Amino acid sequence: MHGNPIYYIFLSAVLLASRSISCHNGEEILDYASVAAQNNQARSVHQGDRHTQRKVAIHNVRVFDGHKLQDPSTVIIEGAFIGRDDRDAEHIDGNGATLLPGLIDAHCHPSNLTHLQDLARFGVTTAFVMACYSSEMCKSLKNHSGLPDTLRSGDPASAPGSVHGTLTAMVDPTLLISNQSQVPSWMTRQLASNPDYIKIIAETPGLDQQTLDLLVDQSHQGGKKVVCHASALAAYSQAIMANVDHIHHAPLDTAITSDMVQTILYQHQVVTPTLTMMRAIAENEPETRNFQAAIDSVSMLINAGIPILAGTDANTQPSVPAMVPFGISMHDELENLVTSGLSNLEALQAATSLPAKYFGLHDGGVIALGKRADFFLVEGNPLEDIKATRNIKTVWLAGIEYAARSNGTVTGVER
Ligand SMILES: *[C@@H]1O[C@H](CO)[C@@H](O)[C@H](O)[C@H]1NC(C)=O
Ligand SMILES: *[C@@H]1O[C@H](CO)[C@@H](O)[C@H](O)[C@H]1NC(C)=O
Ligand SMILES: *[C@@H]1O[C@H](CO)[C@@H](O)[C@H](O)[C@H]1NC(C)=O
Ligand SMILES: *[C@@H]1O[C@H](CO)[C@@H](O)[C@H](O)[C@H]1NC(C)=O
Ligand SMILES: [Zn+2]
Repeated sequence: MHGNPIYYIFLSAVLLASRSISCHNGEEILDYASVAAQNNQARSVHQGDRHTQRKVAIHNVRVFDGHKLQDPSTVIIEGAFIGRDDRDAEHIDGNGATLLPGLIDAHCHPSNLTHLQDLARFGVTTAFVMACYSSEMCKSLKNHSGLPDTLRSGDPASAPGSVHGTLTAMVDPTLLISNQSQVPSWMTRQLASNPDYIKIIAETPGLDQQTLDLLVDQSHQGGKKVVCHASALAAYSQAIMANVDHIHHAPLDTAITSDMVQTILYQHQVVTPTLTMMRAIAENEPETRNFQAAIDSVSMLINAGIPILAGTDANTQPSVPAMVPFGISMHDELENLVTSGLSNLEALQAATSLPAKYFGLHDGGVIALGKRADFFLVEGNPLEDIKATRNIKTVWLAGIEYAARSNGTVTGVER
């Protein structure tokens, strides 16, 4: 699609946008301040017409609680939480339907409220933002009633002259890391904005092993988990050697070896393969990318019992190898994970309770008394047919019903 390898960067999603500032070589960088201002303005407008939340009781509904399928029961929404008292509730018949925890996209790049709306209408109630070059912009995505909750990384750690480093240099060259000596000041800067986790990039050429190792040590000292981008065999080796907490993407060159799988298992590392993005890249560049290597790697990880999380790398930017749409892509990823060997139950866990567990969320990813009322109702039973997650009837975000219009118009309806 593009002649220059510099464009083949899915991480760049968050950087490149229509409302943007042009750079020297024609690439564009998002105008973070103006996007943040619009997001913040939308928040205050929305809060003005917030209604009192009403009580809702969903009866006789199969419940996938994040761990397993429960017999039909009643789930009650009381304010933002799951309650037990259905007096004066509005009643919904859940017969034939299944209630699932709101999906958690463990890797995506939303920057505005359209992206959050797309996530919401497809049942995604939590999104992990995986490259945050502007904490102001990322904070502007938080605390929108009736829209998904977001967590965020800081600036991705990258080396000068690397593919990702080229993007970082456009935002702020002082964020680049040449060697270990620059890690402490970089880390101090990241921790100052209190990200939910640290994002680092393994790539060739890129950060050397010693620098990756130190980034992991210092993140852990700062109380942060480390998410590492790795989309090739060599990068996977580095991510394993550095013992990062989370490896994201899957190799598009050569499948990982069984020794690597054993080390990942032994080190309790967690993998988010973003197969939807891997597939999209491989379709755009069939001569140089090998999607089968990604599938084979994930199958090996699954067979070894390594925890797998569902993430999509959703972004809407034209200048990356592949655009992956927000929201609907989580349903594609569920199917991709089932194709790679997860059972339907395991795939649903990978999109709900497991990301909550491995990112230490105190809420989200489960349906249980007292937890936030983040869930969605689908026709049919995704434990029997994973495609049933797409038959969405209603989505609730912290107890607020999200109404999706079939013509694509979306409106938050507050109860
Ligand atoms: C979210 O918005 C509400 C309403 O304006 C406000 O009371 C609350 O403090 C905000 N919370 C955060 C974490 O910003
Ligand atoms: C680390 O990189 C910086 C910036 O390029 C350079 O000034 C410094 O000499 C390097 N230190 C070592 C030990 O290589
Ligand atoms: C959000 O960004 C997309 C491009 O990714 C654009 O089409 C959409 O209009 C933007 N939405 C808002 C509310 O600015
Ligand atoms: C989409 O449907 C909604 C609700 O039915 C309606 O208000 C809106 O005008 C429609 N939009 C378009 C573009 O048809
Ligand atoms: Zn990404």
